[in-house]
Amino acid sequence: MKKPILLAIESSCDDTAIAIVKGNSILSNIIGVQHIHNFYGGVNPEIASRYHQRDIVLLVHQAIFEANIVKKQIDAVAFTKGPGLIGSLLIGASFAKSLAIAWMIPIIGVHHIQAHILSHFIEIEGRSSPKFPFLCLTISGGHTQIILVENFFKMTILGQTIDDAVGEAFDKIAKIAGLPYPGGIWIDYYAKNGNPKKIFFSKPKIGGLDFSFSGLKTQFFSFIRKELKKDPKFIIHNLYDICASIQKSLIDLLFDKMLLAIRQTKIFSIALSGGVSSNSYVRTKFSKVASKKGLKLHLLPVEFATDNAAMIAVSAQIKYSSALFDNLDFVPGANCGWNL
Ligand code: KG4
Ligand code: ZN
Repeated sequence: MKKPILLAIESSCDDTAIAIVKGNSILSNIIGVQHIHNFYGGVNPEIASRYHQRDIVLLVHQAIFEANIVKKQIDAVAFTKGPGLIGSLLIGASFAKSLAIAWMIPIIGVHHIQAHILSHFIEIEGRSSPKFPFLCLTISGGHTQIILVENFFKMTILGQTIDDAVGEAFDKIAKIAGLPYPGGIWIDYYAKNGNPKKIFFSKPKIGGLDFSFSGLKTQFFSFIRKELKKDPKFIIHNLYDICASIQKSLIDLLFDKMLLAIRQTKIFSIALSGGVSSNSYVRTKFSKVASKKGLKLHLLPVEFATDNAAMIAVSAQIKYSSALFDNLDFVPGANCGWNL
């Protein structure tokens, strides 16, 4: 059977990502990164929308060119339907609709977090996709969830953050330490030369499989403020150890809850996705324990762990095969529902 060719747009936050896939294999996958937000120390929603508007036409052209196809070969257009910044989502959805009308093909809206989970089904050489059921830890700037994935359509949230997402906590803590945005990458970078046991931060006591990160952020802030009173150069003198210690504290929270989820569900196949899953300590820690405890661990190459459009395209393929299309009056939502 002919494999459908899909064009996907991911514009939930600040990056304009476009991908074209044939079946689950990538023909092109490009990301227009909006570096301007680094200057503001975080994503400015209005600027994000304006830059999506500016860049999307060129990026779609580039994706078609790199895929080495012609427009009429494309069978459907997929887009992120939410959650995300509403201005950014509207641009991706409106552009998808315009293409669909011009090319007379269907549109498919995809849930951003489900796409992070289904990114494990992108065809990548030398890598096999997880078998159902598996547990997925989605850790990103906007979400922190443990999800039981029973099949492409049955996903159940077992636990999630009750306040900040883990990536958000990384970024806020990095800001307190004077590091640039997005701070998670910088904490990871400096932590490599630090002692993770140098500074102790106590763990929040949250029952079940839910998470909380805002307490650690407050603890970190109070600690830094106290130390700076004694030594105004405390951060510069101790940056490596500060980064290694707070990184360990944040990641150990994820790790403890994942172990609990494995014990409760008796599911030994686990997958990590989202920007924070590219963190080197996360990868080392989970890999070590997976080999010790015989867990089947699925990690993604960094370009598919962070936001990308290939994950939207592959998720849309699943909907395409069941003819689950959206109507042209579809409106994306900043906090859109979980149903596929
Ligand atoms: O999945 P993603 O690209 O976008 C969202 O859906 O949010 O994740 C972005 C988040 C940011 O908070 C960023 O600081 C964090 O992922 N991040 C990292 C690393 N790389 C990206 N956090 C820790 N260590 C990293 N290496
Ligand atoms: Zn994301």
